[in-house]
Amino acid sequence: MKNIVILISGRGSNMQAIVEAGIPGARVAAVIANRPDAAGLAWAAERGIATAALDHKAYASREAFDAALAETIDAHAPDLVVLAGFMRILTEGFTRRYEGRMLNIHPSLLPAFPGLHTHERALEMGCKLAGCTVHFVTAELDHGPIVAQGAVSVLDGDTPDSLAARVLKLEHQLYPEAVRRFAAGEIAVVDGKVASGPEAAASLLSPVPSSKA
Ligand code: GRF
Repeated sequence: MKNIVILISGRGSNMQAIVEAGIPGARVAAVIANRPDAAGLAWAAERGIATAALDHKAYASREAFDAALAETIDAHAPDLVVLAGFMRILTEGFTRRYEGRMLNIHPSLLPAFPGLHTHERALEMGCKLAGCTVHFVTAELDHGPIVAQGAVSVLDGDTPDSLAARVLKLEHQLYPEAVRRFAAGEIAVVDGKVASGPEAAASLLSPVPSSKA
């Protein structure tokens, strides 16, 4: 059974989609938020999932927060860490610790529009397509090997909110499927890219290089 730890900051609708997908061979071991009032925490707790809130404002530095966060995550022996609307810039040390086993979903077709306000920016640029991207997390914000993308047409009269709502529906399909593939050993990072099939399986069997140990 693979342990998944999900990090959220707010409503946690992507976290809910992953929990409700009932991914074979995997369990959501914990949901952790950096905001004690994150609505998704109560939703997870009601379903018997372990929850924790680590208020980032209580820590003197980004490093101190990330160290406490890693300790909380590691208490659940995670095979995979899933960022689902987790609104924090992560330190390089934190991203290295979970290299190849931490996913994020971003509401744009990366590499377009990393960062915030993606839908506003897509509309501003007159994009005809918008969408979302699931990727492995690296030290560079909203970069990292791409696992899956979904696109929607931008419609006449779209607002940032209407576009966000349409993309969010897609996120709820794309993210559980990406997590399922990881849990099933169908995907892995090989030479900085996402490999699938036998290549991914082989990489998961090979010894962990000492730099990642
Ligand atoms: C999603 O649009 C996700 O792509 C972005 O933040 C939003 C989180 O929504 N990173 P939710 O908390 O999963 O409902």
